[in-house]
Amino acid sequence: MKKYVFTPGPVPVPSEVLIEMAKPIIHHRTAEFESIFEEVRDGLKYIYQTKEEVFVLASSGTGAMEAAIVNTLSKGDKVLVINGGKFGERWGKIARAYGLEVEEIVVEWGTAVDPDAVKEALDNDPSIKAVLLQASETSTGVKHPTDEIAKITNQRDNVILIVDGITGVGVFPLNFDELGIDVLVGGSQKAFMLPPGLAFIALSQKAWKFSETSDLPNFYFDLKAALKSAEKNTTPWTPAVTLIIGLNEVLRRFRAEGIDNLHGRHANLSHASREALKAMNMELFAKDSHSTALTVGVAPESIGAGPIVKGLKENFGMTIAGGQDQAKGKIFRFSHIGDIEATDTIAIISAIESTLKTLGHDFDFGAGVTKATELLGK
Ligand SMILES: Cc1ncc(COP(=O)(O)O)c(C=O)c1O
Repeated sequence: MKKYVFTPGPVPVPSEVLIEMAKPIIHHRTAEFESIFEEVRDGLKYIYQTKEEVFVLASSGTGAMEAAIVNTLSKGDKVLVINGGKFGERWGKIARAYGLEVEEIVVEWGTAVDPDAVKEALDNDPSIKAVLLQASETSTGVKHPTDEIAKITNQRDNVILIVDGITGVGVFPLNFDELGIDVLVGGSQKAFMLPPGLAFIALSQKAWKFSETSDLPNFYFDLKAALKSAEKNTTPWTPAVTLIIGLNEVLRRFRAEGIDNLHGRHANLSHASREALKAMNMELFAKDSHSTALTVGVAPESIGAGPIVKGLKENFGMTIAGGQDQAKGKIFRFSHIGDIEATDTIAIISAIESTLKTLGHDFDFGAGVTKATELLGK
C-alpha cells in the first residue's frame, strides 16, 4: 500500500529535494559548502523577513527552544509562559531546567491567549524578563496572536518576546523585523519540508543586548560563536551538511513561489479542510483562532479518535496524529505543511469521509469531498 504522512511533522519531502540530498557528501570546510551556506543564510532571512542572522542548528526544534533561553536569559530570571498545550508546557519545562522562575498563563486547550492577559501580567510584575509563546500550538491547532503580543513587549525595554514558530514560520506571516519579535524558532520537519534534524533561530538587536548579560550555561548552542562563524559562511561545529543542501533546494523553491503564495498555499489547504470537516458534521477543536499548519477535528464521542486514526492508517496508508494528554482519544490532527498540495488534501478528506461512514458517523456522505473540491479544485 502506498504510504502517506499527514502528521504535523515529519512531513513529506519533495523528490527533487531528496535527490539533492542523495548526492555524494561534500566536506563542510570548503568553498563549495560555504557558497551553499551563503545562499541558505540569505534564503532564511527572506523567510523570516529579517535583516538579522538566522542560525541553522543541528538539532530538532526543541534544541533551538533551549538555545533561545540559554542565550538571552540569566539565572533566577522570571519568565511568562503562555501554556495552552503540550508545547507551551515545554517552554515551562526548559525554563525550569535552567533555574528560571516561571509564571504561567494557562490557556484552555483549543483557545488562544488573550493579549490583555499578557499585558496585565507584565504590568503587575515588572521583574518579568521574557514572554514565551507558541505562534502555532501544534497540539491544539491554535494560532496565538503573536502580532498583538509583540506590540505589548515592544513597548518595554526590559522584556523580550521569544516565539516558538516551529509550525508557524513559512506557514503564515511572522515578519520578524516588522512585528518586532525578539527570538523566533523554526524547525526543518515542518513547513521547510525536510527530514527532522535542523532548527532555526534569529535574535533581534534587543535580544542580542540581553545576550550580553546572559549567564546561563551554554556551549553547543552558543549563538555568539555561531554568529562569528556565520559571517564566514560556516558553523562552529560540523553542520548537518546533507540537510543544509536539502534546505538550499527548499529555499530556492520558496523564493520561486514567493512568500505570500507560500503562506496562501497553507491558508487555502487549511480553509478547505476546515470547511470539509464542518460539511461532514464534525467539530473543530480550535475555537477561535486556527493555525493554518494543521486541521484538528473533534472525534464524535461515540467513535473516539483512535478508530479514525487507525482506519486511515490501515485502509488508506495515511498516517495522521491523535491528541496528547487531555485531548488523547478525543481529537485527530492532519497537516498542511510539507510537500502537500490540493490533490493530497482532497485525498485525505475523502479517506476521512470514508472512515467516518464505516464507523457509523451520521452525515451527508460525499459532502466533505464536495466542499474540499469546490474550494481547492481548478
Ligand atoms: C509548536 C512546536 N514546538 C515545538 C516542537 C518540538 O520540536 P521537535 O520535536 O522538533 O524538537 C514541535 C514539534 O512538533 C512543535 O510543533
